[in-house]
Amino acid sequence: MAVKPAQTILVTGGAGFIGSHTCVELLLAGYEVVVVDNLANASTESLRRVEHITGRPLHFYEVDILDRPALEEVFAAHPRIYAVIHFAGLKAVGESASMPLRYYEVNVVGAQVLLQCMDAAGVKRLVFSSSAVVYGLPETSPVPETAATNPTNPYGRTKLFIEHIIRDHCAADRNWQAVMLRYFNPIGAHPSGEIGEDPRGVPNNLAPYVCQTILGLREKLRIFGGDYATADGTGVRDFIHVVDLAKSHLAALRRLEDAPGCLECNVGSGVGYSVLELVHAMEHVSGKKVRYEIAARRPGDLACVVADTRRAERELGWRAQHDLETMCRDMWRWQQKNPQGYS
Ligand code: NAD
Ligand code: WQD
Repeated sequence: MAVKPAQTILVTGGAGFIGSHTCVELLLAGYEVVVVDNLANASTESLRRVEHITGRPLHFYEVDILDRPALEEVFAAHPRIYAVIHFAGLKAVGESASMPLRYYEVNVVGAQVLLQCMDAAGVKRLVFSSSAVVYGLPETSPVPETAATNPTNPYGRTKLFIEHIIRDHCAADRNWQAVMLRYFNPIGAHPSGEIGEDPRGVPNNLAPYVCQTILGLREKLRIFGGDYATADGTGVRDFIHVVDLAKSHLAALRRLEDAPGCLECNVGSGVGYSVLELVHAMEHVSGKKVRYEIAARRPGDLACVVADTRRAERELGWRAQHDLETMCRDMWRWQQKNPQGYS
């Protein structure tokens, strides 16, 4: 029987947090992997470790997605690219409000350049990293994909605009297929402890801030709001293990094999965990106390945001496997082994 040649996947932003975990799963599943990353928020050390975990090599190009000639050269060097997974971009909600033009340029123009390069190379399958941020302030939780999209910050609007661009492009060319994954709150790390989240400067998100507080790198955690209408008064989010999230991209690639058109799909665990539950789970796995105080609510935050995951189960045949304890244990292993991240 003829052996099917391995499919080549181009991964933009593959050196980053979610990208590196996805590269591991792709390599373990037998795909050839080509990474494009300008290292704006990553280092090549993550990719070296991806190769170490999997025992397989990948191709890396230090290229900015805004650099069309350089991106075209990557496509030319790999003429058999099957699909692209597009992670590259800027992702800090607060920063996007202070430098919106930069966010529109990198995220929206970057995506447009990528699509044009894909078209020129005849590559018409895309998995895109969208975000639950496109829902803005959803009226119900769990949030279905049919909920209104009304992002409340420039970062969220870049994600929504890119979704519109991809949808319009798929409508214009019926040979195009795309899955747009709306991630909820990815946390955790690879169980090897070799790769994980390595935020630069003060973390914006809860989980890395808690880890750094335990390590003594931050004095104490401020819990934004203790008076929400939730079981313990703190905010509830849909935390999802980054390895589960990475595997959803492989499920999306499988769907691209035979389903035409464009699909948006929530990727969450479907379970709501409160901020205090996460803090206590981290205390449990680390055996250390988290110093915290209850502070004022953060403007723009909601009491509870949880994914309705039925579409992902139905359309991708995927669901998250890991619970909060596993997310925290794996995150803590990564932190302990790498208190300074990759540096
Ligand atoms: P990350 O910052 O770790 O990864 C993004 C990668 O893109 C980095 O390696 C960075 O160096 C690279 N990059 C940035 N600008 C680039 C450019 N112009 N050209 C080439 N490479 C560039 O972030 P992440 O957490 O891994 O997120 C990956 C994607 O998922 C992003 O698009 C983000 O918006 C989206 N997302 C993340 C979350 C989250 O909470 N982490 C949630 C929802 C959606
Ligand atoms: C989680 C909970 C905070 C920090 C954001 C983006 C979203 C997606 C994921 C990219 C909330 C509380 C936080 C702290 C706290 N990213 N918190 N003290 O806001 O749910 O989602 O990241 O697409 O788009 O909006 O995540 O980790 O910031 O907050 O009490 O120091 O933790 O109030 O209840 P969020 P988060």
